[in-house]
Amino acid sequence: MSDKSFSVSETRFVFPGARRRAALARRLAVNPAAKVAAFVTAAAFVLIVSLAPLASFVIEGWLRQDIEIRSRLIARSVRNHLLASGPESSLDLGRYLEQMVEDERLLALGYCSDAGVMLHATASMPKSISCRDFGAGKTNAFDVDSRPDPRAHVNAVSVGAGPTAGRLVVVHDLSFIDERSRKASYYTILALTGVTMALGLLATSVVLMATRGWARSVRSAILAPRAEEALKPLQAELPGGRDFRALLQALRVERKFTEGIYVEWSPATLGQLLAEELPQARVVIVSNREPYIHNYADGKPTLQIPASGLVAALEPVMRACGGVWVAHGSGAADRETVDEYDRIAVPPNDPAYSLRRVWLSDEEQDGYYYGLANEGLWPLCHIAFVRPNFREQDWSHYVAVNRKFAEVVIEEAECDDPIVLVQDYHFALLPRMIRDRLPNATIIAFWHIPWPNSETFGICPWREQIIDGLLGSTILGFHTQFHCNNFIDAVDRFMESRIDRETGSITLRGHETMVRPYPISIEWPPSALANQLPVEECRKELRRRLHLGDDMRIAIGIERFDYTKGVLDRIRAVDAFLSLHPEWLEKFVFIQAAAPTRSKLPVYSSLQAEARRLVDEINGRHGRNGWKPILLEIRHHEQGEVYALFRAADVCIVSSLHDGMNLVAKEFVAAREDEQGVLILSSFAGASRELSEALIVNPYDAHGMAEAIQEALKMPSGEQRERMRLMRELIRRDNVYSWAAQMLLHAARLRKSERLHRLIGQ
Ligand code: F6P
Repeated sequence: MSDKSFSVSETRFVFPGARRRAALARRLAVNPAAKVAAFVTAAAFVLIVSLAPLASFVIEGWLRQDIEIRSRLIARSVRNHLLASGPESSLDLGRYLEQMVEDERLLALGYCSDAGVMLHATASMPKSISCRDFGAGKTNAFDVDSRPDPRAHVNAVSVGAGPTAGRLVVVHDLSFIDERSRKASYYTILALTGVTMALGLLATSVVLMATRGWARSVRSAILAPRAEEALKPLQAELPGGRDFRALLQALRVERKFTEGIYVEWSPATLGQLLAEELPQARVVIVSNREPYIHNYADGKPTLQIPASGLVAALEPVMRACGGVWVAHGSGAADRETVDEYDRIAVPPNDPAYSLRRVWLSDEEQDGYYYGLANEGLWPLCHIAFVRPNFREQDWSHYVAVNRKFAEVVIEEAECDDPIVLVQDYHFALLPRMIRDRLPNATIIAFWHIPWPNSETFGICPWREQIIDGLLGSTILGFHTQFHCNNFIDAVDRFMESRIDRETGSITLRGHETMVRPYPISIEWPPSALANQLPVEECRKELRRRLHLGDDMRIAIGIERFDYTKGVLDRIRAVDAFLSLHPEWLEKFVFIQAAAPTRSKLPVYSSLQAEARRLVDEINGRHGRNGWKPILLEIRHHEQGEVYALFRAADVCIVSSLHDGMNLVAKEFVAAREDEQGVLILSSFAGASRELSEALIVNPYDAHGMAEAIQEALKMPSGEQRERMRLMRELIRRDNVYSWAAQMLLHAARLRKSERLHRLIGQ
């Protein structure tokens, strides 16, 4: 058992996206329409507060008018007093004025002669006021700051005539005006705020009630398992909602990162994942087969893309990730097209990463590739009843070539903790060799072919070394859980290690490897679809090229000419079909396109010869009037041609005797945007675990396959559509970017965890 406290399957990822999502969800938890109502209320409040000084200005104006009126009233009363008591009674006037200022709002009174002399003034008259202030051409009213007394308003009013003529100086206490206008502002604000708040609350509740359903949908959509999809239609009801769009984006990223089943993994999102989860990481891919081969045509280097599932899957991933791809330079013109460091930027017309070619001698190639890899491990891992051959010399070359590639990887890593993606059975020893030199590297090894049960694997003379080599990886991936289980059984049987079957963890000499299934897929949408003619045109074009009648039904098979693909069995099934259903004679054709591969090995060359012989024999038996039921095209087909064939066909037959995944099946489905066509698929291909809407067959059962062809040709268009839709949806979602993303996500998690363990010294 592993003693570490985490495992990939139990991992709970915490991503920045999650925090962002929570914050945004909180913001959106209040219905935006209600937010608008609240905003309007707040704006009204601000307006009221800013208008308050205006209210106090108006009130002050009113009070000043009041003061003027009071001043005139006082003056009239003084005049009456003077008229009644005569000019001599000045002592009496003084007393009279003192009596009048007992009024609390009247600060002082004074009486000025026309000559500008203060004849009488109450004791409270501020020293700063003199009769000279009211001479000709001077103002009759002004404010003074009579501190320490309160602010005052001074007003001079003409009183009497003749000998009593003079001016009454009235000094009003202004502090009451200040007090009153303050109170007026206060009560105005209070009243208006109350009214606005009441109206605002009313409006908000009306809006909330009216849109309660919408808010509920948003909240439950946020919590839904497919939140981003559930939210999309709601967005239309709130066009331009920035928070909304941000939430959708955050959900997209979080979902991709946490669940790994997000529907739209693409080059962009994969790039984003690398940038966010593995920043600055150096990515190095190693495979035997190179993605671009240069061969000579008419004496000039010509580019060729090999017929390889591995290349079809990994090339788009590398275009998205960048980095370097280390592979065997197998093309005749390969050396001519690299730079001094054996590198070439690819894809040649739009470089996105670097291809580093490794050169092998013929001897190395014979021992490592043809010998150990393809005569030993290939038949060992595939149940196709071809005996594996193990030769000591091949093994020596295999070890040496693995070491050679390890050196190149270390050179290309440029750091001590690169992410190295080791591909396939050609490099079983590479993970350990790299681990020994770069202990901090994150090594993800992927075994593209099946892993046999431990009895079968046990016949390999170097079984321990192979397992030990693979357990140098951080993560070891297979297409299916079944193959993972077989590998773990082999480790259990042949090695001293600690195994946790529940989490797929194997610890050997203190190093832990996670063994997990990652079903490989294809890019979506496939770039080979870009320049395709409409399906009907593809069909016409193929019929024209092969001289087929307009109503001829077409079935196809496309792959490398490998005995594991069940090509002979498929041909026999077509024979059985025509024997069982002679009504299809002259109305049906089966086209087998096969790229020659590993032809140097006798088992491959005899397969081609046997296929030719069998086709001739069947065509001789069933053929008539220039019609041949089976057309065999043994040559390399470019991707565009392959997709054109997929589009032209009624039926595609994938009859592998044993296959890790089989991407032809997925490519056929991806090629059919018209949602028509039937896939017949071997139950022994990994793809059958996912594409269960295909007609699943046993390739060893010719009769069963023949009936499947009949069923496919008779299948109503509606049923074809239903099946195709389900399969297309699956491939669209679980595309090759998703495949790479799952591994990189797990690697990122383990990498962080390992760093933490190193840091705390465990
Ligand atoms: O199926 C296993 C596999 O390695 C694929 O990944 C690849 O498409 C194929 O074999 C290629 O074989 P080769 O490179 O020998 O032609």
